[in-house]
Amino acid sequence: MEGTLSISRMDDNESFLRRKLETLRGVPLFWSIVEKWAKVESFQARPDDLLISTYPKSGTTWISEILDMIYNNGDAEKCKRDAIYVRVPFMELIVPGIANGISQLAKMPSPRLIKTHLPVQLLPESFWENNCKIIYMARNAKDVAVSYYYFYQMAKMHPEPGTWDEFLEKFVAGEVAFGSWYDHVKGWWEKKKDKPILYLFYEDMKEDPKRETQKVLQFLGKDLKEEVVDKILHHTSFQEMQKNPTANYRMVPKAHMDQSVSPFMRKGTVADWKNHFTVAQNEAFDSDYEEKMKGSTLQFRMEM
Ligand code: A3P
Repeated sequence: MEGTLSISRMDDNESFLRRKLETLRGVPLFWSIVEKWAKVESFQARPDDLLISTYPKSGTTWISEILDMIYNNGDAEKCKRDAIYVRVPFMELIVPGIANGISQLAKMPSPRLIKTHLPVQLLPESFWENNCKIIYMARNAKDVAVSYYYFYQMAKMHPEPGTWDEFLEKFVAGEVAFGSWYDHVKGWWEKKKDKPILYLFYEDMKEDPKRETQKVLQFLGKDLKEEVVDKILHHTSFQEMQKNPTANYRMVPKAHMDQSVSPFMRKGTVADWKNHFTVAQNEAFDSDYEEKMKGSTLQFRMEM
């Protein structure tokens, strides 16, 4: 089925798996996105689209489920109508015969929820022309690196991650899918000065999901009864999403995402990096971090 990650015609040669990334204007992306870039670039946004933008592993699925619940007034059954990657299409994901976010979105009625991992400079122009609202969700770099390492292992669209040591080096150098975390979070942060962007943090969402969901409602100009908000928070808790097949990516075939290697809903915590970084890795990471984030007003909490 085009437009989803499910295999309707299981390719005999799964040549799209574990291929090396290609670079587009200095940003490493899946080879098939680079190949079809003209289609992504000319994507037609609509004024009532809501774009969910994130660096991978920053809570994209979580905020997507919250938004779909908001759009459906807290009706959990309606939100189980299909997998999250159908309800909130991944715009730039094009994998021949498997997924095409662009054509999936062209067929979708408004108002659309759209997911992207593109760094701000690569976002199709039509989003700016239409003054679309954007929700950006950021997560601290160390937890993203760990989560991404496990995701690389289970999601076979990525090249092999190598050891944790090797992967961390690549992450710091920005040599992973969608490029440098540092450039991504800073780029979107700067853009928020003159565009309608709500910038959220995963750690804040963990700390107080109700407060953060209220921020989202205010940004959207929506008012929901407290009992509806409570329903949304229950349905989008880690425990609920972990067992929800329309949220936990278990509808994706094992050949593409092997959840026996690592589940998509892995831990959902803050500071799991402490279980992975050695003291030496942490020191090197911190000094490089300081250098890369120098001059930015953007602040992250690495623990709570
Ligand atoms: P971990 O690998 O640290 O567990 P994305 O959706 O951007 O790919 O992000 C996936 C990360 O968000 C995973 O992190 C996943 O467990 C976490 N996550 C997903 N839903 C969550 C929820 N409801 N609450 C907290 N974390 C969640």
